[in-house]
Amino acid sequence: MELVQDTTRPSLVDMKGIPMIKYFAEGTRLLQDFQAWPDDLLVSTYPKSGTTWVSEILDIIYQDGDLQKCRRAPIYMRVPFLEFTSPGVPSGREALENTAAPRLLKTHLPLALLPQSLLDQKVKVIYIARNAKDVAVSYYNFYLMAKVHPDPGTWDSFLENFMKGTVSYGSWYQHVQEWWELRRTHPVLYLFYEDLKENPKREIRKILEFVGRSLPEKTIDSIIQHTTFKEMKKNPMANYTTVPPDFMDHNVSAFMRKGTTGDWKNTFTVAQNERFDAHYADKMAGCNFIFRSEI
Ligand code: A3P
Repeated sequence: MELVQDTTRPSLVDMKGIPMIKYFAEGTRLLQDFQAWPDDLLVSTYPKSGTTWVSEILDIIYQDGDLQKCRRAPIYMRVPFLEFTSPGVPSGREALENTAAPRLLKTHLPLALLPQSLLDQKVKVIYIARNAKDVAVSYYNFYLMAKVHPDPGTWDSFLENFMKGTVSYGSWYQHVQEWWELRRTHPVLYLFYEDLKENPKREIRKILEFVGRSLPEKTIDSIIQHTTFKEMKKNPMANYTTVPPDFMDHNVSAFMRKGTTGDWKNTFTVAQNERFDAHYADKMAGCNFIFRSEI
């Protein structure tokens, strides 16, 4: 196990203009010689957009609906997080060593930092996007509980940083748009958290078609049942309670926090919402797809 010795809450570091968690910047550098395989499948998201949820769904699909097999290891071992390193937790590279083809991989990297091999090998990508307001609130709570991040400061200052793109992994606005554009040249299934919440069966069918698999109706129903927020929250192989508390403190905020759409209304003030909307309209001008911040 690679141990990266450092105190908690290190400052973000710049990589090609993208602010990165110090440990993950090291992990990204380690990926320089990463070799993708053509039958890999990459789950890509901006943080807090439903990565774990879709990863769990995909692992069940890859295990032909066998829920017992999905209890074999925590989600970060079943779906290696490429750029991940953190003290006391196996790195993404280590998790990869134990992963046989066909592999499921996870990343939050923007395209500027993505290992080129994933593009060269035309690795299929499932991208999950979530509305910016719920992401910002979820991210703030995640910063509070996951001590690989710098101290987020107040919610108000965090929201400003989110809008400026100075949080870990940079700009949400750029991330969701550049991966959308990638669809023109690369096999990308672009999904929305809100759609999955609204109609999981429809979205799981899209996933099955994209990965070229089919499963009986009753297996699809059991996937839906197993991956509800309530079920995943109590599943130690999905809820990140297996990581050391020095890394994630679930007493501050659970990783499986609320799992809803529209929770931002409990955190944004009216003034913050107005300012956010004006800034959003500017940043997303010309974007030809729509996010729903309530369903
Ligand atoms: P909240 O903080 O709003 O609750 P990621 O896996 O990309 O880090 O995203 C984490 C967010 O997805 C958290 O959002 C988490 O609760 C939510 N989530 C995880 N599993 C979910 C599920 N099965 N259904 C709905 N939301 C889920």
